Amino acid sequence: MATLLELMLVACFLSARSEATEEEELLARGDYLVNSIVACGNCHTPRGDDHKPIAEMHLAGAFQVDRAEFTAYSPNITPDHETGIGAWSDEEIIRAIREGVRPDGTVIGPPMPIRVYREMSDTDVRAIVAYLRTIAPVRNSVPRSEYNIPLPESYGPPVDAVPDVPREDTVAYGAYVSNALGHCMECHTPLVKGAPDLSRTGLGGNVFVKPHGIELVAVSANISPHPEQGIGAWTDDEIKRAITQATSRDGRPLQPAMPFYFYEKVSDEDLEAIIAYLRSIPPQAIE
Ligand code: HEC
Ligand code: HEC
Repeated sequence: MATLLELMLVACFLSARSEATEEEELLARGDYLVNSIVACGNCHTPRGDDHKPIAEMHLAGAFQVDRAEFTAYSPNITPDHETGIGAWSDEEIIRAIREGVRPDGTVIGPPMPIRVYREMSDTDVRAIVAYLRTIAPVRNSVPRSEYNIPLPESYGPPVDAVPDVPREDTVAYGAYVSNALGHCMECHTPLVKGAPDLSRTGLGGNVFVKPHGIELVAVSANISPHPEQGIGAWTDDEIKRAITQATSRDGRPLQPAMPFYFYEKVSDEDLEAIIAYLRSIPPQAIE
C-alpha cells in the first residue's frame, strides 16, 4: 500500500502537471488566435517587397495605414523593453487591447479595432498576451500616428469580465468569431462617422485604397445571405475557400486588405461557426 507521503507526492506532481498543461493550452490558443483569425499581424507586421509579412519582423510594427482622416503607424508589440511593450504588465496590455488605453493614459486610435475587441473574452485576451510574451523581441522604433480627426476620449467604461461564448451555440460563437475576434464585420459593414452602421451589417462597400501599400483599390464585398448580391447562394465550401484561399466563387483571386496570409490557418470549427453566423444575419442589398 502507498504511504501518505507517496500519495502526497503523486498529488503534487499531478497538480504541477495540470498547471503546465493549462499554461501550454493558453499559449497554443494565443498562437492560434494571433496568427489566424485575429490576425494582429495584418496591421502590426510590416510587409516585404513580395507583400508578405516579414517573418523576422513579426509584430514589430511600422506598418503604415493612410486614410484621409489619418496616417497611422502600427506600434511594435514585441517584448522589446524600449521600442516594444516588454515593460508593460499583462493588465496594461489587456487594457490596451480591450479598452484602447495605454499605460500612460493616452487613447489608441483607429484602425486598431478597439470597439470589437471590447467583446473579447478574458480567456482569449489572456491567451493573446501569453503568446505575445513568447515572441522574439525586435528593436524597432515606430513614428507616431497623425490624426486629422479628434480621437474619442474613451471607447466606453472599463471592461471587467467577459465570459467565453459557448461553442455549442454555433451561431452565437460564430458571431463572436466574426466580430470580437476576426473583425470581419468592421470591414464588411458601411461606416458612418467611423463606426459600422449595424442596420446594414455585411452589406460591404467599404473602399480600401492601396491596402498594404499595394497599388490597387479594393471594395469589401456583400457577405450577407442575399441570394444575388450576397453569398446566400454560395456553398459552405465556396465560402471557406474565399476566406482561406482568397478565391471568389467564380475563381477570381481576391484582393488584399482582408488578412489572407493569416486566414489560411483558421480552424474548420471556426470556419463553420462563421458560416452559420453569416447565414443567420438579415440579407442586405443595394436597391
Ligand atoms: C486593423 C489594424 C490593427 C489590428 C488588426 C490590430 N491593431 Fe493594434 N494597433 C493598430 C494601430 C494603427 C495602432 C496605433 C494607433 C495609434 O497610433 O494611436 C495600434 C496600437 C496597438 C497597441 C498600443 C501599442 C503602443 O505602443 O502604443 C497595442 C498593445 C496593440 N495595438 C496590440 C494589438 C493586438 C494584440 C492585436 C491583435 C489582437 C492588434 N493590436 C490588432 C492597428 C491594428
Ligand atoms: C481588413 C478588411 C477585411 C477583413 C478584416 C475581412 N474582409 Fe472579407 N473582404 C475584404 C475586401 C476588401 C474584399 C473584396 C476583395 C475583392 O473583391 O477582391 C473581401 C472579400 C470577402 C469575400 C469574397 C466575397 C466575394 O463576393 O467574392 C468573403 C466571403 C469575405 N470577404 C468574408 C470575410 C470574412 C468571413 C471575414 C472574417 C473572418 C472577412 N471577410 C474579413 C475586406 C476584409
